[in-house]
Amino acid sequence: MAGHVFCRNPVAVPFIETANRRIATSIPAPGTVAILESLDKYESRSMHGQLPLIWRSATGHTIQDHAGNKWIDFTSMIFVANVGHGNEKVISSVQKAIEMPILGCYAYPNELRAEYLEKLVNFAGPNFEKAFLLSAGTEATEAAFKLMKMHGQKIGKKKNVILAVSGNWHGRTLGAQMMSDNKSQKSWVGHNLEDIAHIDFPYPWVLEDNNSKDYLRKSLKKLEASGISIREDIAGIMLETFQGWAAVFYPKEYVQALREICDANNILLCFDEMQSGFGRTGMRFGYEHYEVKADLICCGKGMGGGFPISGVIGKAEIMDLPEIGNMSSTHSGNPVMCAAGLAVIEEIETRDLVRESARKGEILHTELNRIKSEFKSLISGIYGKGMIASIVFRDPETGTPNSEFVSRVAEKCMQKGLLVVHTGRESIKIGPPLIISDEALLEGLGVIRESILELFK
Ligand SMILES: Cc1ncc(COP(=O)(O)O)c(C=O)c1O
Repeated sequence: MAGHVFCRNPVAVPFIETANRRIATSIPAPGTVAILESLDKYESRSMHGQLPLIWRSATGHTIQDHAGNKWIDFTSMIFVANVGHGNEKVISSVQKAIEMPILGCYAYPNELRAEYLEKLVNFAGPNFEKAFLLSAGTEATEAAFKLMKMHGQKIGKKKNVILAVSGNWHGRTLGAQMMSDNKSQKSWVGHNLEDIAHIDFPYPWVLEDNNSKDYLRKSLKKLEASGISIREDIAGIMLETFQGWAAVFYPKEYVQALREICDANNILLCFDEMQSGFGRTGMRFGYEHYEVKADLICCGKGMGGGFPISGVIGKAEIMDLPEIGNMSSTHSGNPVMCAAGLAVIEEIETRDLVRESARKGEILHTELNRIKSEFKSLISGIYGKGMIASIVFRDPETGTPNSEFVSRVAEKCMQKGLLVVHTGRESIKIGPPLIISDEALLEGLGVIRESILELFK
């Protein structure tokens, strides 16, 4: 699917000034287009398609541009700035590392790496013993893919298949993209990897009698009919903790049934916690909502509070499967990134951000459901938990997905001083920094309502 291209012609919009927002120019603001054109010229096209505003500074829940406009951010940079943009504790922790100075030391040990890994593993909870650090989320899911396959090989030669869920999203490198099963995005690969199989996601609207266990049973039967034996062939199952494009969680009993299948057949269960980790859903990690144990979790995004750090966390017997040197990276355990990661966990703990996420999530979901009941014909569902939510739009006449309307809502919100996640599909996603004030949260939700109302008229 080609990404939406937002209009760059400046539109005169009403002046707005509140405690949290300021829109004082046409939008895009003067000077924006020149920078976009420079990026058009020198940067690959695949990076483009974002809303046309140029970030000058990002603090707390606020984004400002060079022209003095100010937005409430409901994106957290796609769930990165959980502890707030420009978090002071993160900055000062990073500054200490920079002042030492120790910017990197490849695979030589450093104190910050040791301190961070201990903190991270303890933060992850009692089921976890070791972690491996990387830079990008996609590298973490690739590493988990490798660990699950190595686990399978250790048990038997044939146990080599990774089961994933269609539509889940794991990144843009080869293995991650093949697990993601986004048909158009993986078409460049040119072939299917035989050792990755998929089952369908149990969306609430496809379940008969709301019976997700039956749906799972049928999916696995279909898989076995295609020649894949659950017991003999599957080494690991990779789940994105929720279906990303609309933050739709799996039914709890579905994941619990999968856990039982994993236990009975020596299969590892891995959760991709990129979007759902570090307090985002009102739990430390989103998979905890399912009340199951995870063998591996993949993290990134919110882990570094804006700095690029990712990782896989699991039991020692799995994490230690690769030989020395067989799973490492130039920037693995980079001291500056570890300093950022340390401060992120400290902030989550000292400011009680997991509980805050659950509390503010109640406000968020209550208000969104109120908006849904006001626009029944236009909004087909509100999904998510804690401080992640989606609004799914449909065409009021045909009931079909309405991605065109979504783009207009995202644009309208921007013109009114609010940033939401434009998914490119029929959903808008909302994930404010967990530190946002209740007042700014409610103000932003008011902007969403107002934007829908104006466009729906
Ligand atoms: C669920 C999930 N997994 C993996 C990734 C890949 O992370 P990154 O973009 O850091 O490589 C993303 C990124 O959007 C994601 O949302």
